[in-house]
Amino acid sequence: MCGIVGYVGKKKAIPILLNSLKALEYRGYDSAGIAYIKDHDIHIIKKQGKIKNLEQSLSINEDNHIGIGHTRWATHGIPNEVNAHPHKVGMITLVHNGIIENYESLRQDLTQDSYTFKSETDTEVVAALIDQMYQKNHDMLQTLNEVTKKLEGTYAFGILCDEHPDTIYAIRKDSPLIIGVQDEDYFIASDVPAILNYTKEYYLLEQGEIAILNDTCTFYVEGKEIKKKLKNFEGDSSSVSKSGYEHFMMKEMMEEPDVLRKTVHHMKEETFTFKDYQSIDIVACGSAYHTGLVGKYLIEQYADIPVNVEVASEYRYKKFFPKKNHLVIVISQSGETADTLAALKRAKEYSLDTLGIVNVKESSIAREADQVIYTMAGPEIAVATTKAYLAQVTTLSLLALKTAYEKDLMTKEEYEEILHSFDVGAVKVGKLLNKDYSEQAKQIYEKTDLFYLGRGLDYALAMEGSLKLKEISYLHSEAYASGELKHGTISLVEDGTPVITVMIDDHIRSKSISNNKEVRARGGYVIAISNTDLPSDSYDDLILVPHINDFVNPMMALIPMQMISYYVAKARGCDIDKPKNLAKSVTVE
Ligand code: G6P
Repeated sequence: MCGIVGYVGKKKAIPILLNSLKALEYRGYDSAGIAYIKDHDIHIIKKQGKIKNLEQSLSINEDNHIGIGHTRWATHGIPNEVNAHPHKVGMITLVHNGIIENYESLRQDLTQDSYTFKSETDTEVVAALIDQMYQKNHDMLQTLNEVTKKLEGTYAFGILCDEHPDTIYAIRKDSPLIIGVQDEDYFIASDVPAILNYTKEYYLLEQGEIAILNDTCTFYVEGKEIKKKLKNFEGDSSSVSKSGYEHFMMKEMMEEPDVLRKTVHHMKEETFTFKDYQSIDIVACGSAYHTGLVGKYLIEQYADIPVNVEVASEYRYKKFFPKKNHLVIVISQSGETADTLAALKRAKEYSLDTLGIVNVKESSIAREADQVIYTMAGPEIAVATTKAYLAQVTTLSLLALKTAYEKDLMTKEEYEEILHSFDVGAVKVGKLLNKDYSEQAKQIYEKTDLFYLGRGLDYALAMEGSLKLKEISYLHSEAYASGELKHGTISLVEDGTPVITVMIDDHIRSKSISNNKEVRARGGYVIAISNTDLPSDSYDDLILVPHINDFVNPMMALIPMQMISYYVAKARGCDIDKPKNLAKSVTVE
């Protein structure tokens, strides 16, 4: 949520700042700005809206070699030019990712010291605070050390000081920040994809560390210089380009067969299972929460362990009843989601065992959890998750399978056969991605409301299908447990209301067939996603998907739902990769 970048080196700064910001646009895109220094003068350019608006007002070839930039997801104050970052007060200009919780009291104190504020943001207050402290000591290192003691909340800051026009300063707490290195060129960024066009080498800035970048790069803790280990991004830098696809979302869906294969390969090496646990909580937000619901079904059904799934924003404040042999699993693509991170910290306060299932390496959740299993999705840029969700579901499915085997709940032959079936699943996912979903999209794109239905495992999948459609097409959609529909919501079904029913769960298919008929009797247009043929009076449109087994079948159902969402959003002319009001990495509560 919000992306920050910075560059100091021998190259022209503006094109680098813009390129890097574009790679972080998934973190927010309601306004953007940069600050650069030329001939000892600072220039700040900010624009409302997406980065392309900012780009149009910049002179790309201008000769300057240091700057910071920001793409915003508004928290304090509406998205406009005044509230956009960078903010400058006195000698200090900065960009910020995070939320300063005590900014109101700081603002009051600073106002008494004759500081005035133009914006409604918490960020401008920090610029003033740093300026106030710096004016007293003219020592940035000392100032930044002191300022961190006064700030409550989360932050990553990229900072410029008028008196040091060749230097970028960076600090962080609970918001991510990396320092990229290419020879004597230095970058700061909220996430690795922002620097991949230039370098794969980076330092991870830790809490409490201060980075000072100019013609060299030095790190300090409590005023003392420290040495840090350079890291190397292992992925492929093409992962941050569209590789010829119109949208990242389509490119990322097309990667799903590969992601499935990589996940299986990775999990074969993984030794962690749930066999020592008697109960499990799964905690996450958004799509990752829906992954938890699929996981609950598989773990309870096959590994015989009761699972409670909760959204992190609720879990973090609820009353805890700590139990023995209890595991808390947190799932997160970004590894930075504020509520999920807070839920994890809460579980640790109660000394519960924790497992993070995380996509982004060395993200906060990955580092905070006792155990971490990385999902093998690679960088995901489209705001609406597809391949990372598939990787999460596959990971939980394989953990359920391994646990079932280790607990002697299935034979070695059964285990190996199911394990092998994931490779078959990858091939089938590829085939499903190449099917034509235009007919379903045509039925839906001009409607205003629709429903997704399912029971058990199907309901968990329907919830994700419904969310995907809402996120990117702005159509109102609700996921309902099929059996619950008649208790009220069926009154909303009218002639032609699209109702997508997920029907891959063998155990309750006959019940779902009856629910389909109830919907059709009221005029609903039923699109059934099923892995067996259905009576012809129970659907209007049938999407037949392969039937493999309960562990792999979820991957078969989710592909048509992702593709339908994509084509509906496309038909409606929506900005598929950057849906309005959303951000991929939600680092605020
Ligand atoms: C945001 C995104 C969702 C995502 C959720 C959790 O709301 O828009 O697509 O599922 O955050 O993100 P995480 O990074 O924790 O998986």
